[in-house]
Amino acid sequence: MAVRRRQRLGPGGGRALLGAVLLCVWWRAAAERVRYTIAEELGRGSLVGPLARDLGLSADELPARKLQMASAGKKQLKYFTVNEENGNLYVNERLDREEMCGESATCSVSFEVLVHNPLSVFYVEVAIQDVNDNAPRFLQNKFQLEINELTSPGARFYLGMAEDPDVGSNSLQGYELEANGHFTVEVKASEDGSKSRPELVLAKALDREEAAFHELVLRASDGGDPARTGTARIRVTVVDANDNAPVFSQAEYTVHVPEDVAVGSTILTATAEDADEGQNGQLKYSFHKISYRDSKLFYLDSDTGEITVRGELDFEKISSHELEVQAHDGGELFDTAKVIITVTDVNDNVPKISVRSAINEISEDTALDTVVALLHVQDRDSGANGEVHCTIEGNIPFRLEKSLDDYYRVVTARELDREQVSEYNVTVRAADGGSPALQSRAVLCLRVLDVNDNAPVFAEERYSARVAENNAAGALVLTVRATDADWGQNARVRYRLGEGRVRGAPLSSYVSVQAETGALYALRSLDYEQVRELRLWVCAEDGGAPALSSNVSVVVQIVDENDNAPQVLYPAPAAALGSGSGGAWSGVELAPRWSEPGALVAKVVAVDADAGQNAWLSYELAKATEPGLFRVGLHSGEVRTARSPLARDAARQSLVVVVKDHGRPALSATATLSVVLAESVAELLAELSSATDEAAEPGEPAGSLTRWLVLAVAAVSCLFLAFLLLLLALRLRRWHRQQLLPPASGALRGVPVSHFVGIDGVRAFLQSYSHDVSLTADSLTSLRQCEVVCAAFLSKETDRRCGFRVA
Ligand SMILES: *[C@@H]1O[C@H](CO)[C@@H](O)[C@H](O)[C@H]1NC(C)=O
Ligand SMILES: *[C@@H]1O[C@H](CO)[C@@H](O)[C@H](O)[C@H]1NC(C)=O
Repeated sequence: MAVRRRQRLGPGGGRALLGAVLLCVWWRAAAERVRYTIAEELGRGSLVGPLARDLGLSADELPARKLQMASAGKKQLKYFTVNEENGNLYVNERLDREEMCGESATCSVSFEVLVHNPLSVFYVEVAIQDVNDNAPRFLQNKFQLEINELTSPGARFYLGMAEDPDVGSNSLQGYELEANGHFTVEVKASEDGSKSRPELVLAKALDREEAAFHELVLRASDGGDPARTGTARIRVTVVDANDNAPVFSQAEYTVHVPEDVAVGSTILTATAEDADEGQNGQLKYSFHKISYRDSKLFYLDSDTGEITVRGELDFEKISSHELEVQAHDGGELFDTAKVIITVTDVNDNVPKISVRSAINEISEDTALDTVVALLHVQDRDSGANGEVHCTIEGNIPFRLEKSLDDYYRVVTARELDREQVSEYNVTVRAADGGSPALQSRAVLCLRVLDVNDNAPVFAEERYSARVAENNAAGALVLTVRATDADWGQNARVRYRLGEGRVRGAPLSSYVSVQAETGALYALRSLDYEQVRELRLWVCAEDGGAPALSSNVSVVVQIVDENDNAPQVLYPAPAAALGSGSGGAWSGVELAPRWSEPGALVAKVVAVDADAGQNAWLSYELAKATEPGLFRVGLHSGEVRTARSPLARDAARQSLVVVVKDHGRPALSATATLSVVLAESVAELLAELSSATDEAAEPGEPAGSLTRWLVLAVAAVSCLFLAFLLLLLALRLRRWHRQQLLPPASGALRGVPVSHFVGIDGVRAFLQSYSHDVSLTADSLTSLRQCEVVCAAFLSKETDRRCGFRVA
């Protein structure tokens, strides 16, 4: 008999219990078999079913019948307990279907119940129904996946499974993935078909650059109501692929750089970016297109993209550089960009002066505006930096003339004079218009060539020299010197003697001038007594063509030396009279016996060819027959009586007079006078004849000589008397005139006439003597003296001067 009863809810059963009650089927097998169905997880004391009642026992008979649970295995008995009072079956211990039955679909506990009085056995089976008490659970709740971003959609990746110990619909039903753009999950039945495992399917391509990671939540759910779920986290790391090319920040970089930028400076950084990572995003920079020339100027840092200057930029050579740079990632991808480097001008070029043509020698007589040099000036800078202004430094006789564009001429501006400036350094300065301005200089060395425009100039205006006579032939007299301001041959001075004559002989026989040195030499021994001085011209001539010359006057004065002894003119030397008494002088003078003391008896006349002291004569009485009777004037040479002659004095007196000059050493000569003391002319003549007789040496016919002499004296005396009278008249007239006129030379007055003896000495003597004669013209003595003197003169025929005077 099957009994269906509604399952009761046990205390504390909850939702599971409610479900179990709903499903509970109570039946009673025909053969005393009782079945109950309960939900699992009911707590202790939960009612399983009214077992006593279901066995047909009433409450009254229950104590007597003693319900007793029995089983082959003790295990089954621990789950349930029978209440002895009401005969209900209760849960003794919490029932866990999964523990009791595992994964089997049905689960039940069977035992027997013994009923006593009468004893009978009943079978009881309690079916335990599953309750969704377990959530699906992943064995591994975190997954790490690495997926290359280039993986194509549709790719599958295994995931770990989840488990749910519940059975039936409470068991694991499926998986789902939280919403995301890229992945879905699919469940694929495993080979044995029992279990299925989830697979992650790439639905949409990945992009690491967009999202490098994807965090997914995988949810497993069972079929319970409410369903239970279990989750696992999936971390998908997108592995980079080189799918991005580098990109430069600008397609074209432009930079302005001054040309003097320092080597090593960074002028630009070209940066590119690559969205990839790692190797794929690591960029290397290089020049893509660069000229060889530019490659020497610019350096590109391959890591940073910095462009630095490695060489010197030059605006004047290249003002703009165009390069291409490339950025390369670790893969195959790259990008290029253009770099335009514009070099700006800096005033870095000094103006350059180049001498296109120049002379380095210029004649001093060059005409004005003569071109000396042609210069070219250039500055490679541009604008004001390249504008050049040229000047000539200093105050020099040159100026600049602009000719063509950048050409300048240097021309002479004033006359040149080599004697003032012989060399010019013409400095041309060029300055550009930069700020600060740059300058340069060019120096032209210009030598001024000499022209023979200067005559030699003597050091002195006139030269004079004194030379002692009797010099050695060839003695140096003096040296003239002339200088010439010109140069070289034009300044080479040569000296020569001007023409002239001395005493009829050519000057060149007296002196010579050495051409090179200007030394003047005496060619012969000079004689003061012949030539007092030489006046000459020396000419200095330079070596130019034509030559220039100048003259200088030279006066050579010859200085006297005491080289001439006094020469006694009167009385005539004995030799001249034919007496031949060995150089002694002799004559016969008359002295009347009635002479007063101081009366002039004779005059010794001497001359000295020298001059000055050397010709200043003095007279001394050296020897006398009657000492004290005569005296001699020291300077006049006049022999006068010192006292009146006495009768005892011998008629013939002999006097020796020494004539001395004042030279050093002094030279002297002697004159011997014979004085006859007589009373009358007859006595005189007698004395004279005896005197001449005495004078005549034996062996010569003295008588005829005396006769001739007397005759001659008589004739000449008459002639001379007439002449003297005429002379006296003339003399008186002139003397009278001189007295009226002032003296011609004051210096000569008061000096004895005899002091001025020389060539003119004789004239002086004659004048003075004739004067004396005129004063005593009336006296016979004078007449006699005159006669004697003339006779003496006549006899001295060799003396031309005297003869001339007499004539
Ligand atoms: C010119 O310059 C040179 C050196 O270059 C120097 O020896 C000479 O003295 C200078 N001349 C003048 C006149 O300044
Ligand atoms: C120099 O003297 C000579 C003759 O003595 C003469 O011919 C010449 O003209 C003079 N020269 C000068 C410059 O005086």
